[in-house]
Amino acid sequence: MPFIEWSQDLSVNIDEIDDQHRKLVDLINLLYDSMKEGKGKDELGKILNDLADNTVHHFETEEKLLQKYDYPEYASHKKEHDDLARQVSIIKAQYEKGNTTISIEMLGFLKSWLNNHILTSDKKYSTFLIVRGVV
Ligand code: FEO
Repeated sequence: MPFIEWSQDLSVNIDEIDDQHRKLVDLINLLYDSMKEGKGKDELGKILNDLADNTVHHFETEEKLLQKYDYPEYASHKKEHDDLARQVSIIKAQYEKGNTTISIEMLGFLKSWLNNHILTSDKKYSTFLIVRGVV
């Protein structure tokens, strides 16, 4: 059973966003599996980099859409993104310096953040964008 299970509950019914969310879920699962299998620092570091890059790319995609359609809760949504992007970049920097390892606590934090953010904040904009023709 994967560390994070994708389900229709996590869908915002916008294909591009769902695809990006799935990619983030896949990368966290890959990081979890690789950690459990005892993969080396270089391999874990590469997955962590991919996760950081995909997270930034995903946030940019969402933020462009929310700005384009004047989403009223844009500022608070962006703040949530900025907070996580900062956390991920700290984790990445510490990992690269050898000051931390990939731990179950770290992965648990990422999993909770992603699930909670999609289920609350992302779901909130879903209908707002869909009625404006975003699919
Ligand atoms: Fe899908 Fe707001 O991140």
